Amino acid sequence: MNAGLTFTNPLHIPPILEPTLEGDTKVFELEIANGTHQFFAGQDAATQGYNGTYLGPTIKVKTGDNVRFNIVNTLDEVTTVHWHGMHVPPEMDGTPHQPIMPGATWHPHYEIKNEASTMWYHPHTHGGTARQSYFGLAGLYIIEDENSASLDIPQTYGVDDIPVILQDRLFDDSGDLVYGNGGNAFLGDTILINGTHNPYVTVDGKLIRFRILNASNARIYRLAFSDGREFHQIATDGGLLEAPVALDMVKLAPGERAEIVVDLSDDTDVTLVSLPDPSVLSMFENAFENESGRFDLLKIAVTPTETVSAALPAVLNVIERWDEADAARVRPMQLAGPITDGSDRVIVGQGRQIPINGKLMDMARVDAVVTLGDIEVWEVTNAGGVPHPFHVHDIQFLVLDRDGTPPPLNERGWKDTTLVNAGETVRIIAKYTDFANENVPYMFHCHIMEHEDNGMMGQFTVVAPDSDLVGSDGYMLDLDMHAMEH
Ligand code: C2O
Ligand code: CU
Ligand code: CU
Repeated sequence: MNAGLTFTNPLHIPPILEPTLEGDTKVFELEIANGTHQFFAGQDAATQGYNGTYLGPTIKVKTGDNVRFNIVNTLDEVTTVHWHGMHVPPEMDGTPHQPIMPGATWHPHYEIKNEASTMWYHPHTHGGTARQSYFGLAGLYIIEDENSASLDIPQTYGVDDIPVILQDRLFDDSGDLVYGNGGNAFLGDTILINGTHNPYVTVDGKLIRFRILNASNARIYRLAFSDGREFHQIATDGGLLEAPVALDMVKLAPGERAEIVVDLSDDTDVTLVSLPDPSVLSMFENAFENESGRFDLLKIAVTPTETVSAALPAVLNVIERWDEADAARVRPMQLAGPITDGSDRVIVGQGRQIPINGKLMDMARVDAVVTLGDIEVWEVTNAGGVPHPFHVHDIQFLVLDRDGTPPPLNERGWKDTTLVNAGETVRIIAKYTDFANENVPYMFHCHIMEHEDNGMMGQFTVVAPDSDLVGSDGYMLDLDMHAMEH
């Protein structure tokens, strides 16, 4: 279906969800529902969505806002809503420990503590994240702050600040979504952007910002423009970079975000593409024949203008870097390799299970105990043969190095997900602040959703400095107790 692209469909721009005010709290309503959506004219597909038939509205807030959500689950299955990238209490994080049962409503509330960034929300259902995301449950969550608002950068949503949610999908002849193509990492042959197939977007011939989210289950993109033009990356997952970084390609793994700005003042149409990755055919057992080719993603139709955009600001942000000498602990995280705790269980049709530190996910087991206020270095090693995007909840981290080498300039910003290539060791540093709860864990996991659902996930708690659990190497939770708290 990727052949003969004609870019006939205007890019859908997810609407901004308007909150109501209760005191100083912004209250957002989300309804999770099954839907029928036409990706192709006249062809119905069964989908799931937030406040609509596919994907969800964009939530837009400011740092310091107090927010509350009323989230109704009208599905006939359990789901959760996770705020990917956000620094929220573990009880509000929307992990498998905060299930929203069919017919139930969840009311999470928290203060926005993150700086200006592009976050997102999606299900984190125990064993069901990949499938629910696939059928449409995902949305953008944009945070602004005083710094971002003061910068002379494109920031008019949908006009010169364009959301780009990348997802690869597989369709049958009747236009219905097909999930489960046999491998343990799903790849589709048709790329949707914001749910639109063969999309184009019309913008003025000036600086244009794209907020790109890789919401695909497993696909890694190498994003570039069809004419090879240079662009600048201005933000990583969790915030603005210190300065714009000039690039001609940015690689984006599932879960990651990149904000880029491209200069279109030459009034020439271009196409956002994903460049071929020679290694991809060997990466996934279910890769398509066209994997060695290029994907044309989004046609950018430029309306000539007289406007001359100002150059990007030389300074975008201030990032205070921790000294690794101040880390209380260096924690090894081995991705892939053998399962050593005897927990292997074969889930038919889902392929091989991949462990972290030799173990598969167990909701009752806490794998790492972090003391509130500590800085930690996590040494993430990929002992397997395919890349895994490693994601940590609660915090934003900085990449110290990859195999001992400082990361490229465009990785020197706040991250919550980072690709760890086969055989590579990536060291990340973070400080664990504000929220301690020894009964409710946060997750760390591979963001290839099938890997995650299949057990490539672990749990950590943040505990108060005076807790008996300080220094513990892990413990079991009393999940019945925990259920009673809710
Ligand atoms: Cu985007 Cu634990 O997830
Ligand atoms: Cu997350
Ligand atoms: Cu993985």
